[in-house]
Amino acid sequence: MDIHSSSYVHPTAIVEAGAIIEPEARVWHFSHVREGARLGALTAIGRDVYIDKNVELGRGTRVQNGVSIYNGVEVGSWCFIGPHAIFTNDLHPRVGKRTWTLQHTVLRDGMSIGAGAIIRCGVEIGAFAMIGAGAVVTKSIPSFSLAVGLPAEVESLICACGETRVALDANASELIQACCRNLLNPEVLALAEVHAKQFRRTDE
Ligand SMILES: CC(C)(COP(=O)(O)OP(=O)(O)OC[C@H]1O[C@@H](n2cnc3c(N)ncnc32)[C@H](O)[C@@H]1OP(=O)(O)O)[C@@H](O)C(=O)NCCC(=O)NCCS
Ligand SMILES: [Zn+2]
Repeated sequence: MDIHSSSYVHPTAIVEAGAIIEPEARVWHFSHVREGARLGALTAIGRDVYIDKNVELGRGTRVQNGVSIYNGVEVGSWCFIGPHAIFTNDLHPRVGKRTWTLQHTVLRDGMSIGAGAIIRCGVEIGAFAMIGAGAVVTKSIPSFSLAVGLPAEVESLICACGETRVALDANASELIQACCRNLLNPEVLALAEVHAKQFRRTDE
């Protein structure tokens, strides 16, 4: 167990030996951080959160109450995971199988997941994407995209701070707007600028 002296772990939380809690992280009531897990600097995990073995949360990421993040989920920096969002890591679960295949899920920097959304394993949620409350994500969502519903579909693009919808055919320059410059802290704004520059580059 390696808890940085500037971090706070509530006395009711369990942090197993072999977990790493980086500077200025916060772990609230009744949460459980397994061996091999790493909470990056400035992360915050709320009440009743379970961070499975070897799960790493990037710098500044926030996990709201009642979320279990299982082995196989990769979480970037400055991600927001809303209350009671659900993750999975076995696509065809059965008791009594000789073996099973762990399916990975990737959450890229700056993305947000709304309350109660279900993220089926095997998908990637792109940088600064936003998943609406209650969505069921069954396929990967590109960066800066807003997806809602069951199954989740992309409705529009969304700016870096999440306040302004952006047309699907917009240019990368429209992903960062005045609202983002006003609202985002400088580090997140700089990260968004990096990801906005990479936007759609792979399709071109
Ligand atoms: C998806 C979201 C970002 C859209 O925000 P918005 O654009 O301000 O939403 P609006 O209220 O203008 O709704 C626009 C339309 O989308 C629909 N809609 C909104 N949120 C939706 C959701 N989560 N799932 C399905 N449809 C949704 C609305 O019903 C409305 O439909 P209509 O055009 O047919 O009337 C927002 O509703 C949301 O789910 N945010 C996440 C909240 C959350 O879980 N926060 C966690 C921390 S507390
Ligand atoms: Zn904005």
